[in-house]
Amino acid sequence: MDERDWQKLRDAALGAREQAYAPYSGFRVGAALRSSDGRVFVGCNVENASYGAAICAERGALTTAIAAGARDFVGLAIATEANHPTMPCGICRQSLSEFAPTLPVRSFTVAGAKASHGLDELLPHAFDRTQLD
Ligand code: THU
Repeated sequence: MDERDWQKLRDAALGAREQAYAPYSGFRVGAALRSSDGRVFVGCNVENASYGAAICAERGALTTAIAAGARDFVGLAIATEANHPTMPCGICRQSLSEFAPTLPVRSFTVAGAKASHGLDELLPHAFDRTQLD
């Protein structure tokens, strides 16, 4: 991915964040996942009166991508309004790792801060299918 691709992915995450349904936490998150064929899939967090039923933006983007037939991913952008760029929660790291264990992840704030990490850095020694043997 070149910097133009990342700008597009960041803008898609910022746009998805606008759709977040987060009346309980007030913490709105957008995510955009790019597949190796150049498609971009977005997600936002969707909360629920039963708090534990909340779905994160990252897994929303991932499940949309999988349902569209994508399996190979080259970048994930996350957007929040936090003071500092945030990284995916543990469950999302595990879900993403199933398909893209070294996925480049960039997180952006509305104010313009950014951070970048590989998923293998965020989830070292991940549990994967080989361990089911
Ligand atoms: N959230 C995400 O969407 N992604 C993350 O990586 C961390 C947390 C959501 C879940 C919940 O709706 C809100 O942010 C506060 O935790």
